[in-house]
Amino acid sequence: MTMDLCEALKSATKEAHERAENTQFMRNFQNSQISLEHFKLLFEIYYCLLISVFEELQRLGSKPQLSGLLSPGELHRVSALEADLQYLHGEGWREALRCPPATSEYVRRLRHVGSEQPELLGAHAYTRYMGDLSGGQVLRKLAQKALGLPASGRGTAFFTFPNISSSNGFKQLYRSRLDSLELSQQTRLQILDEANRAFQLNVEVFEDLQRLGPSALRNGSSVPEGGAEIRQRTVKRPLGDEKVRESDRAVTGTPAWPVGVVVLSVAVLVAAFLWFSL
Ligand code: HEM
Repeated sequence: MTMDLCEALKSATKEAHERAENTQFMRNFQNSQISLEHFKLLFEIYYCLLISVFEELQRLGSKPQLSGLLSPGELHRVSALEADLQYLHGEGWREALRCPPATSEYVRRLRHVGSEQPELLGAHAYTRYMGDLSGGQVLRKLAQKALGLPASGRGTAFFTFPNISSSNGFKQLYRSRLDSLELSQQTRLQILDEANRAFQLNVEVFEDLQRLGPSALRNGSSVPEGGAEIRQRTVKRPLGDEKVRESDRAVTGTPAWPVGVVVLSVAVLVAAFLWFSL
């Protein structure tokens, strides 16, 4: 008996999932070593990807045999992500949106698949939506704690699913939609391959994100009005990017040797004065 599509997807992408989970960026994130700059860029990247998946899936409306791929509205969360970006970057975030090279590559693939082989979009919808419903929940709590983002959910609304009471129940619902697609054996195998490609594209996006050092991120490092809660916190930065705050520099940045020279000189002068006056 052949496995259901989602069961086959889970098993075919098990190793790829481990690779994605274990990228340096994700490992740092799980250890709460995430800077606000990286987090902001991550959300910009999510936006580039989410919009592309969303638009390509929407175009499937004209193909009834693939309509099962269209995810229920609750999964889209484009407007939640827009609200997060507005909170994190302030007005003008849209004009300043950055889409790093690996993300552009991922978008290109989504557009290509959408126009040439739309049935493979199932692989991308699975990777994106199931991932956000699973690991995304862990990341939300970590980000709130490490970056001091408010528990009200501002800045992390993308990871929340307000209309979904049980993420497990919802995952079951979406799995059953994917499982009920009528697919040839060949297309099924292509979807499994495409899902592995989707994970690999995610790995490359995280590697890209990790590589972009603080200087490349500096433009987006300020927190806008309304994001004051974050500004109050000392942000933990990724490994190798430890920064000394201005206030710390005042205490730790002054070398001790000039003080020693002055003290020694005064002591010599006092001793000489005493010697000659006796
Ligand atoms: C810190 C990183 C991550 C953690 C802690 C994590 C954790 C998890 C967990 C616990 C599950 C199992 C949920 C269940 O069995 O119902 C899961 C499933 C899943 N994750 Fe992740 N994940 C991470 C990163 C990612 C990434 C980067 C992607 C893809 C881009 C991803 C895609 C998926 C998918 C597609 C599933 C559904 C598997 C299935 O049930 O078919 N995850 N994740």
